[in-house]
Amino acid sequence: MAPIIRVIYNQKGGVGKTTLAVNLAACAARSGKRTLLIDSDPQGNATSYILGQEKYPDNTLADYYESCLHLNIFRQSIFEYITLNTKIPNLHLVACNRELEDLRTKLENKHKIMKLREGLKNNTYDHVYLDPPPANDFFSLACLIAANEIIIPIDCDAFSIRAASEIKNTIEEVRQDHNPSLKVLGIVVNQYQKGTKHSLGIIQELQKIGFSILEPFIPSSVKIRESHSEIKPIVIGHPDHAVSQAINSLFHSIESISQTKIPANESIENKKNQIKEKSDSLHLD
Ligand SMILES: Nc1ncnc2c1ncn2[C@@H]1O[C@H](COP(=O)(O)OP(=O)(O)OP(=O)(O)O)[C@@H](O)[C@H]1O
Ligand SMILES: [Mg+2]
Repeated sequence: MAPIIRVIYNQKGGVGKTTLAVNLAACAARSGKRTLLIDSDPQGNATSYILGQEKYPDNTLADYYESCLHLNIFRQSIFEYITLNTKIPNLHLVACNRELEDLRTKLENKHKIMKLREGLKNNTYDHVYLDPPPANDFFSLACLIAANEIIIPIDCDAFSIRAASEIKNTIEEVRQDHNPSLKVLGIVVNQYQKGTKHSLGIIQELQKIGFSILEPFIPSSVKIRESHSEIKPIVIGHPDHAVSQAINSLFHSIESISQTKIPANESIENKKNQIKEKSDSLHLD
């Protein structure tokens, strides 16, 4: 079976891309899937979340991209650049650090945008998770071209609506130019403040733009920030915590949507009605 390659994308910063990419990857690994997490952000936050700040992996995504800048009669594969010791069974990592940023101009000038996609060919993983930077740049675009599914986390503020409209255009462009089969699984509502009419209003606006909303929503919890310091995905370190349970349920709903092969947008009318019912039953001001 072809591997699932999921990008957790939003050009807006701090919405929970890394948190979700790492924890969804951990959920996949825990459920027995051979899983690869590719940190595609020069900030290297996914790498730090898995390995800590001190460890400096021998091989990183920058080394892979660097190899792509040279003529090579053998096709380069990203699998030569994997860190195996993630301490989480079934989870492998392609690490990343600031060095990636230094390669950007050379990669752009030499038109290497397809290299991530090509490097993932002949992939023996069940699931691959891509964590791009908060920008609509070369590294994010490379992820959107390499992926077959996209998940969009938002943090329920008013700027999310503008970001979502831009994301819609970006996806259309990527589909048209490079990756026609990119499937939008939907929006993940992160840092959800239960019972606020404001959050529900934003969710309804996002649906009007044409996005499907994934459930359950992920509540806000300081435990997530703590899990970053503990260097352990919250779903592994605190599996019984409400946030871990929400992420785990989210993983399973993503899995079932992924398997239906029905474009996520088809269920929008259904979801619209469900959200309206939820909002009506809460009688919020
Ligand atoms: N549900 C949540 N509750 C509380 N804090 C959260 C939650 N989700 C994420 N955070 C915190 O918000 C911050 C940003 O999260 P994260 O790094 O995952 O976002 P990001 O979109 O990857 O950021 P960037 O755009 O910089 O890559 C982190 O400090 C993280 O711990
Ligand atoms: Mg991030």
